[in-house]
Amino acid sequence: MKETIGFIGLGGMGLAMATNVLKAGFGLHVYNRTADKARPLLELGASLARSPAEAVSPGGVVVTMVTNDLAVEEVTLGTSGFLARLGDGVHLSMSTIAPRTARHLADVHRERGSRYVASPVFGKPDVAEAAKLWIATSGGDAATRERVRPIQEAMGQRVFDFGDDPGAASVIKLAGNFMLGAAIEAMAEAFTLAQKHGVPRRQTYEFITQTFFDCFVYRGYGELIASDHYQPVGAKPSLIRKDFGLVLDAAAEELVSMPLANLVHDRLTATVAKGREDADWAGFAREVSESAGL
Ligand SMILES: NC(=O)c1ccc[n+]([C@@H]2O[C@H](COP(=O)([O-])OP(=O)(O)OC[C@H]3O[C@@H](n4cnc5c(N)ncnc54)[C@H](OP(=O)(O)O)[C@@H]3O)[C@@H](O)[C@H]2O)c1
Repeated sequence: MKETIGFIGLGGMGLAMATNVLKAGFGLHVYNRTADKARPLLELGASLARSPAEAVSPGGVVVTMVTNDLAVEEVTLGTSGFLARLGDGVHLSMSTIAPRTARHLADVHRERGSRYVASPVFGKPDVAEAAKLWIATSGGDAATRERVRPIQEAMGQRVFDFGDDPGAASVIKLAGNFMLGAAIEAMAEAFTLAQKHGVPRRQTYEFITQTFFDCFVYRGYGELIASDHYQPVGAKPSLIRKDFGLVLDAAAEELVSMPLANLVHDRLTATVAKGREDADWAGFAREVSESAGL
């Protein structure tokens, strides 16, 4: 048996990722705020922690995959947080959070003798289940990143190293999500334009994905937009609206003008305000067609 890992956050992504860590031969000590969600892992041999602190062993590795910056800070620094128990261990932080938060957490860890490695992921829950995530990583130091590599490899198809700055991987994750949103907005506008001129959405989709946009982002999200069917829900609109808020904050910090990020954030705000959480976030494409009277 390989070492036992602490794993905190068993939502849509975390449960699938933790399952793959277990299948790769690591021991697993898991914590989830709603303990019930840990049941499938307990059946596979994981043990249950009753607090974030209980999930870690001094000197060990703890993975966090919770919703947002606040949740990561709470499980790390809160009253039942794990920081004090981690000793000289490693926090492998896989949520999508602000570069600023990642750098702050890394400072706090350093002061306490532990290390923070940022490790946000690309891919929906089905990709996580297949252990095919793309993982961006940075922070700690090269040796620490080497130590956690087998754990990342249990969850992903490839790990991309962005060096020692703990904020670097976080900003790459935000940049990537921004580009996905921009692609969805572009397709929504193009398909709507063509449709209003009499060309069916499906036909536009078939053309662009067989020619100059023959890539899986356009094929995958384009299929949802062409069929106007946003199921299954890979990520809820509110979750990605959170990410676009982080993009805009990070842009403001460094005086980067990102009008397209503002636009997509607004689309997602309208989508959430309309209560469309039961559809995938790409459903914000409907804001485009509806505003054109379709
Ligand atoms: N879904 C995607 O396609 C996707 C893709 C890439 C990255 N991500 C990122 O991955 C992270 C997790 O996403 P997800 O889709 O797994 O979200 P999710 O299904 O909503 O799960 C969120 C998890 O965080 C826990 N949590 C939330 N607030 C907490 C708190 N204050 N204290 C302790 N635990 C807390 C939840 O516990 P409960 O079960 O008790 O609610 C749950 O385990 C997010 O940062 C997201 O942006 C998501």
